[in-house]
Amino acid sequence: MSPSTVHSVKPFYRIASIPGDGIGTEITQAAVQVLQKLADAHGTFQFDFTHFDWSSKNYLERGWYMPEDGLEQLKKHDAIYFGAVGWPNVPDHISLWGLILPIRKALNQYVNVRPTRILAGTSSPLANCSRDDLDWVIVRENSEGEYSGQGGTSHEHSPHAVATEVSIFTQVGIERITRFAFETARSRPRKKLTMVTKSNAQRHGMVLWDRVFYEVAKEYPDVEHDKMLVDAMTVRMVLHPETLDTIVATNLHADILSDLAAALSGSIGIAPSSNLDPTRKNPSMFEPIHGSAPDIAGKGIANPVGAFWSAAEMVRWLGAEEAADVLMKAIENVTGAGVRTKDLSGSSNTQEVTDAVCAEVEKILKK
Ligand code: NAI
Ligand code: MG
Repeated sequence: MSPSTVHSVKPFYRIASIPGDGIGTEITQAAVQVLQKLADAHGTFQFDFTHFDWSSKNYLERGWYMPEDGLEQLKKHDAIYFGAVGWPNVPDHISLWGLILPIRKALNQYVNVRPTRILAGTSSPLANCSRDDLDWVIVRENSEGEYSGQGGTSHEHSPHAVATEVSIFTQVGIERITRFAFETARSRPRKKLTMVTKSNAQRHGMVLWDRVFYEVAKEYPDVEHDKMLVDAMTVRMVLHPETLDTIVATNLHADILSDLAAALSGSIGIAPSSNLDPTRKNPSMFEPIHGSAPDIAGKGIANPVGAFWSAAEMVRWLGAEEAADVLMKAIENVTGAGVRTKDLSGSSNTQEVTDAVCAEVEKILKK
């Protein structure tokens, strides 16, 4: 998406920020501080943030998560930065379907990219797993599959209650995510893609996935590819992480596998995600993969690294690749120097990590 220009020559990126609930608000505030510092220190672009107070607390007071023209408001921006949504006093399916899932679907964000690696100064809970052994990108189908929202309930609140949750898999949907995954694999040094389904027990949608995958694979003879059943995949991720590089899976499977991946890389608090509309007709959305973490919310101890990494992915998508690299380097200089939150066995709080990353950004750009 091309940036807009103000009176000065500096391009500015219009960012819609949706902090949401719990630690979502804490890490979004941290990410905005770091992004402002990055823009100021880099000096070649600016951010123009619009903050949207769409949250579970406000839902309980107003009866809606997003106003009727919410999607139209978001479309006026170059990108969306999202914290987390969900709080114990609202059923999770209401909060998810009230905010984040409609955005992903309506803005055609059919790709969810979730990179995982072990950052400097941190370690995997797996014994003998080095930084070289675990460096993955999970490409998640983000628009259909198990999260299509099709189904219904009959005879509710009776002993005969019946519910269906229908998965939708389309050739178009599978083909476009598969192609994106092959392109991602091709862009990485190892050029290796693993496709995950459960086509032994699920004999329609998953079989279509397999078929389309092998058809698309013919266009990428330079990319090594293989196929895993999702249950066996969890074992391979734990026992042979070094055999994996890029992974493509359905909405549900990749959702689960990416939490496992984050834990194997050290903490769910560091993992980023990009919800992309590769056609660039709509703004893409960037968010850490974790939720609102009610158990630690309000304590100021949430790890902001996943939020910073997501911010770096946003900067890269907007076209400021060199600035994105600076931010990633700053993050790893800070984790490498031992400034880490409790989930990474450190003793710093959110603000201390944020200030350290800001200082590091300034230091790198002043050199
Ligand atoms: P969660 O990711 O919020 O928390 C799981 C565990 O990881 C908790 O022990 C938490 O303290 C820890 N954790 C998460 N992020 C952390 C961070 N940055 N630093 C340190 N520790 C961190 O998942 P949970 O508990 O299943 O869900 C809580 C709420 O968040 C629910 O309402 C759920 O629906 C929602 N949720 C929203 C998501 C989104 O907005 N995209 C994604 C996942 C969950
Ligand atoms: Mg998840």
